[in-house]
Amino acid sequence: MAQYDVIIIGAGPGGYVSAIRCAQLGLKTAIVEGRETLGGTCLNVGCIPSKALLHATHMLHEAEHNFADMGLKGKTQSVDWTQMKAYKTDVVGQNTGGIEFLMKKNKIDWLKGWASIPAAGQVKVGDDTHEAKNIVIASGSVPSSLPGVEVDNDKGIVVDSTGALDLPKVPKKMTVIGAGVIGLELGSVYARLGADVTVVEYMDAICPGMDADVQRTFKRILEKQGLKFIMGAAVQGVDATKTKAKVRYLPKKGGDEEVVDADVVLVATGRKPFAEGLGLDALGVKMTERGQIAVDGKWATNVPGIYAIGDVIEGPMLAHKAEDEGMAVAEVMAGKHGHVNYGVIPGVVYTTPEVATVGATEAALKAEGRKLKIGKFMFMGNARAKAVHQGEGFVKIITDKETDRVLGAAIIGPAAGDMIHELCVAMEFGASAQDIALTCHAHPTYSEAVREAALACGDGAIHS
Ligand code: NAI
Repeated sequence: MAQYDVIIIGAGPGGYVSAIRCAQLGLKTAIVEGRETLGGTCLNVGCIPSKALLHATHMLHEAEHNFADMGLKGKTQSVDWTQMKAYKTDVVGQNTGGIEFLMKKNKIDWLKGWASIPAAGQVKVGDDTHEAKNIVIASGSVPSSLPGVEVDNDKGIVVDSTGALDLPKVPKKMTVIGAGVIGLELGSVYARLGADVTVVEYMDAICPGMDADVQRTFKRILEKQGLKFIMGAAVQGVDATKTKAKVRYLPKKGGDEEVVDADVVLVATGRKPFAEGLGLDALGVKMTERGQIAVDGKWATNVPGIYAIGDVIEGPMLAHKAEDEGMAVAEVMAGKHGHVNYGVIPGVVYTTPEVATVGATEAALKAEGRKLKIGKFMFMGNARAKAVHQGEGFVKIITDKETDRVLGAAIIGPAAGDMIHELCVAMEFGASAQDIALTCHAHPTYSEAVREAALACGDGAIHS
């Protein structure tokens, strides 16, 4: 029986990052993972493969729509779907292999198999029981089910995000249930590949909770790209045959049930925490009403020596939120002061254009009665964006009217997911919009749009 300082259950971004930080802090560490490869949902069937497909299909879009304009003429591209999936698999392999290398480099043992916790201080994997002073549960999440909808990724007709990443062929007609991040990213992929994509969403706006300005602009841009939306529609069920499916929904405004036909239905209505098989019930680990593991401000559960991080606890289900918690909990276990600033966690949708947000929304701040000053700058006024056919969208910075402190920001435009970090750093340092406006920004860059939005919080942007 091996003895560890820490055993981490789950090798997704939360778990493997935590393991590396534990090892760096001198703790003897093991990580348990039942998949064939490390990296969890994110690397195997989530963020990374979807980004490969988004990149490949964005290139296709450029070839089909913008090459001729730039004087690039000749044979048009055609899609070899098998090769595109092979490229995606290769990208995933490079990344999961990279994590395996990092585990070896940091002398972290990979215990292969599915873990359970027979008692505090013990982790069972297969027939072996290992001892650990501390255990971190980083077991992630799985797609949540929708009543009346049976997902079967093997049949490939009604699928979740995992199935949608590996469809045997590009469907002619795809219906996506849910206009959240997964639905819009994968809906974009298939729309660019030529599928007729309809998104059915219960709410009246896409990406619920996001800045309302962004929601409107984002929907308009996606519609221009060919995606269709049925809003205010509560999906009641899906009737599938071997080759087709019908999505039944009730319009919220009233009226009879309506139907959309599809060759493939992608169910993207959220994810739920995954902690099955760990034996948490028997251990008496406290759960929240929403089925998450309850933790305190230091990620400790009510059972001494057992911690939890990532999608399995409260908060946004984002890889980088899990990573931050993974590092912080390692520091707590090593006797340091782990900390996560939950007020500055960016959210990104990797469509084209990208959408990125951080901090509070205008609506939430106004509901609190805060006096605001908002600076907005359209990418139409940004030379670099126009040079690459991406002059749509804007940067919006929300500041406190009196102090000019940045409270939140939203970007819809080229490289938004990278540019948002300038605003994250500003918020971490308690910066004002003027601090950003007074910082020299290289020309010509997309980042100038951030500076212009900051200038718009003061005496005005230059190029608008
Ligand atoms: P989501 O929570 O983002 O969106 C689900 C959507 O489905 C919502 O708009 C909801 O109103 C709608 N919906 C729910 N039930 C419905 C019904 N019966 N009829 C019609 N519409 C219905 O969930 P999603 O997109 O599945 O993503 C799951 C998690 O994974 C999220 O927490 C997301 O943040 C995370 N994720 C993050 C990514 C990123 O950061 N780029 C990429 C992919 C996933």
